[in-house]
Formats: sequence, C-alpha cells, structure tokens
Amino acid sequence: TSPALTDAFARPITYLRLSVTDRCDFRCAYCMSEDTTFLPRRDVLSLEELDRLATAFIGLGVRKLRLTGGEPLMRRNMMSLVRALSRHLASGALDELTLTTNGSQLARHAAALAEHGVRRINVSLDSLDPARFAEITRRGDLAKVLEGIAAAKAAGLRVKINTVALKGFNEDELFDLVAWAGDAGHDLSFIEVMPLGDLPGQARREQFWPLTDLRARLASRFTLDDLAETTGGPARYLRLRETGQKIGLITPLSHNFCEGCNRVRVSATGTLYPCLGQIGKVELREALRASEGNAPLLAAIRAGLGAKPRGHDFLYTETATEGAVARPMNRTGG
Ligand code: GTP
Ligand code: 5AD
Ligand code: SF4
Repeated sequence: TSPALTDAFARPITYLRLSVTDRCDFRCAYCMSEDTTFLPRRDVLSLEELDRLATAFIGLGVRKLRLTGGEPLMRRNMMSLVRALSRHLASGALDELTLTTNGSQLARHAAALAEHGVRRINVSLDSLDPARFAEITRRGDLAKVLEGIAAAKAAGLRVKINTVALKGFNEDELFDLVAWAGDAGHDLSFIEVMPLGDLPGQARREQFWPLTDLRARLASRFTLDDLAETTGGPARYLRLRETGQKIGLITPLSHNFCEGCNRVRVSATGTLYPCLGQIGKVELREALRASEGNAPLLAAIRAGLGAKPRGHDFLYTETATEGAVARPMNRTGG
C-alpha cells in the first residue's frame, strides 16, 4: 500500500487531473479566445511520458485519474494511452480512470473507452439549443455532441453532463436541461464560471450566475434533499424528491470547497498546478526526462504538493473581479 500524499494543510491528494493536450476543436467563449494559438507540439509530453507521469502519481497514492484537455479526444492515439493506463485499474492501484470531454469525437471512441475500463465520463454541454450551442462554443455542432453522448450511453458508460451556469445565456434552460438529463438518465452538474483566462474581469462578472440563485429556482419547483455522497470531485449533490434525479452543484464562488480539496493538475507540458485558482506551478518535465530513474520526478511532485496553497481567491464584488488568473482553462486542464 502506498503512502498517501498530503499537502501542507494535511489534505490527502488522491485525485490527479492530467491534461493530454491544450488543443480543442471548440472555442468556448468563457474558456478561450477565438484566435487562440496552441502550444508547439514539441512542448507537449509524449504519450509514454504522460503514462510515466500518471504512474508516478499512482505510486504516490493517487486513486482517481481524470484525463482532460483542451479536448482529450483530440490527442492522436489517445486510446493507446487509455489502454496503457487501464493496467492500474486491473492491478487495483487505481479506483477510477475517466475523462472530461466536449463530446465532439465521442461517438467514435465510446466503445473503446468502455473496453479499457472507463465506467463514467463527464461531457460539457451548456445549451440544448443548436444556435446557442454554436454561439457559446463558437464552432461546436450540438447534434454531434448529442450523438456522442448517446453512443457513450449505448457503450455502457455513465454520462455526467457539466453545464457552466451563465447569466443571461442558459438561465432560461434550467428546467429543460434538468428534464432532458432526467429523461436520458444522465447525471447533471452545474458549474459557476470562474475568472480564468484572458477575458476581462467585467465580462466575467456579467456572466456570473450564482448557483445559490439556480438552487432557489429549482426549489420553486422541486423539493430538494441534500446528499452526503461525493464522487471525490468538487460537486455537492442534491436530489429532486419528486423525480429522484440527482443534481450536482460546483460552487467555487458562492460556497468555496477548497478545504476538502483532494486534487492537483498536470498540464500537457508537464507543469504541475497545485491549485486551479492560483498561479503557482512546478515544472515536472525536466525531472521526468532525467536519466537517473524516477527519484527526481518523485521529488518534484512532492515539492509541488508541498506548495499547494490553501485555496483560490476568486471573488466577484459589486464593482470588480478579484483573484483572477490569466492562465486559460484549456492550458490548465479543466
Ligand atoms: P466527478 O468525478 O464527476 O466529480 O468530476 P469532477 O467534478 O471532479 O470533474 P469535472 O471535469 O467534471 O470538473 C468539473 C469542473 O469543476 C471543472 O472543470 C472545474 O470547472 C471545476 N473544478 C474541478 N476541480 C476544481 C478545483 O479544484 N477548484 C475549482 N475552483 N474548481 C474545480
Ligand atoms: N469557469 C468554469 N468552468 C469552466 N470551464 C471552462 N472554463 C471555465 C471557467 N472559466 C469548464 C468547461 C468544462 C470543464 C472542463 O471546465 O465547460 O465543463
Ligand atoms: Fe474546448 Fe473545453 Fe475550452 Fe470549450 S471549455 S473550448 S470544449 S477546452
């Protein structure tokens, strides 16, 4: 049994979010600018290096591994990485191997994911209206994503829909989204928009739809029961008593959950970000490529964990956005 990694605040770190690419075929308006330039390929870790990195974290006690991006299914030969990592499921070293995807390429990968031990995936979907979907993703095709979601379900994967709550954008779709997910048997989580990336603070504040308000709207139609269960992620869940449906709320702004944080991120270039909401980072790539075995890498990872801050400082006030981080989500790994 491996010694659990803990940070300076005695939080056990058991969840790694590993980004496999910063590339994406969408340009979600809250995530990246329309003319984003992606990293040169030579800066991105090879699939073998990603495997070695993940394996090192698992050796240090990580039990849950989520592959992210950018869009992880844009990475060439992605299924060979998933297949390789599934050995840690087979050995019992890992409890869960999963990914967060925009769904655009899901239809052709769903069966392989299921075959390689993935049980559950999270798919981002902010609107069920084709025109709005195209607007927010700037180049996404809703029909394709829905097809991907259906293929995932048909392959036996559980699907959780992630919807970023955006003021004036999908507020009026709340009950449609809930009904659609309920009918299709998908879990659904809403996420408060965070001030990440180069969008000006003012624009962020205008997008912010607090989930306290979303919750109140749900309560106007359903009886809400708070659930104690967790998936090991940041969402807190409630159940709609009338339908039995489970809804997740990810509330970094209105109800900070940093105290129970169990995760770190590694970017596709091998940068360890101990916190999504802080600029601190530790480069792992040189250590990963060192010739003297795994020791330098393990030391670098421990250093990164030791530098994990207490939490983020995101705050929307009446007049300003505080604690914003310029590094965009697609480069951080969701
Ligand atoms: P489950 O395993 O289904 O619970 O997934 P998850 O919520 O851990 O992963 P997912 O990729 O669905 O994450 C949803 C969103 O939650 C992320 O994209 C972020 O917006 C937010 N999130 C995840 N981790 C953190 C975190 O450590 N801090 C903050 N502020 N937000 C986070
Ligand atoms: N705030 C909150 N969520 C975001 N995502 C991307 N950018 C932001 C942001 N600034 C979401 C995506 C996806 C997940 C990986 O992160 O919609 O569901
Ligand atoms: Fe791509 Fe995800 Fe960013 Fe949208 S939020 S542009 S799908 S990385």
